[in-house]
Amino acid sequence: MSMDRRKFLNLSGLGITSFTISGFIPTIHNQIEVAPIVAATWDAGLAANLAAWKVLGAGGKALDAVEKGVMVTEDEMNCCVGLNGNPDRDGHVTLDASIMDHEFNCGSVAFLERIKHPIAVARRVMEKTPHVMLVGEGAQQFAVAEGFTLEPDQLSDDAKRSYEGWLKKSEYKPVINIERKKALSQLDPSLMAPHKLSNGEWNHDTIGMVALDRFGNLSGSCTTSGAGFKMRGRVGDSPVIGAGLYVDNEVGAVVATGQGEDVIRVAGSSAVVEQMRQGKSPSEACKFVVERIRRIKKEKAKDIQICFIAINKKGEVGAFALHKGFNYAVHTNDGNKLIESSSLD
Ligand code: GLY
Repeated sequence: MSMDRRKFLNLSGLGITSFTISGFIPTIHNQIEVAPIVAATWDAGLAANLAAWKVLGAGGKALDAVEKGVMVTEDEMNCCVGLNGNPDRDGHVTLDASIMDHEFNCGSVAFLERIKHPIAVARRVMEKTPHVMLVGEGAQQFAVAEGFTLEPDQLSDDAKRSYEGWLKKSEYKPVINIERKKALSQLDPSLMAPHKLSNGEWNHDTIGMVALDRFGNLSGSCTTSGAGFKMRGRVGDSPVIGAGLYVDNEVGAVVATGQGEDVIRVAGSSAVVEQMRQGKSPSEACKFVVERIRRIKKEKAKDIQICFIAINKKGEVGAFALHKGFNYAVHTNDGNKLIESSSLD
């Protein structure tokens, strides 16, 4: 899917400070504004986009929008992103998150426990440390030193049920498209069946968001409780800059969701950005990398889901998934819409 967007123009070279063109709004920085846009993965992206749009629609920055947007999902009781997510095989919820702005500033946290908003900690890592990534105990200590509350080490009721069900067999079997959860079952129950675990629960949730602000700047964020019932210490693609998230303000911004190990293998989000740099549209670039993953995985590709959403400098949004069942939400001046992604099957 591709959306025609108004073009971003930088008139600084022309020394124009006041200018009127239909569709463009002049700013005091000699830059003509673009219409903002935000896109986020899965059904949960709809609510996340609304929060992001409060920032973007009011003329705020993409970086603030992508942080505030995914914080909504981290808070949701009914969604496994954040502390309500499913635990690792030892019964602990461990969180990964990353954020990146238009100037290659980036921050991430991995294997973080008992902190409600890992995305906000990732931003602090970006803004307040000389590092890009903090993990585990060190990340938690940093968060607490920054004033984040240490939450109780306990599972949500849903996650507890899910974990107890999983313990009966204790098998690690990632299931594709689980992020769609209950919302999908309401749309079409038949679509949900293949994505459920045998105990009727879900085992993996991520939200990724990319945005373009009125200044023509891109940012992205990604946050997850990771693969449910993973080995203790497992980290997925979401906090790995270049894998789960990448932003190059000259080209575009990309986030990934799905089987993190296979996104890391191909530096997925960075690879999509490089394809856009070569001239591909966002959806063509996502498709190119998804096809590469299918070639690498061969037969095993049927057991995993990989999805990318991308936005380019012109504000065109696209997505592509390995298998059907992936959707994403896009918010523009025209409203907030859920879009079914194209896929290889
Ligand atoms: N894509 C998120 C993860 O694999 O943890």
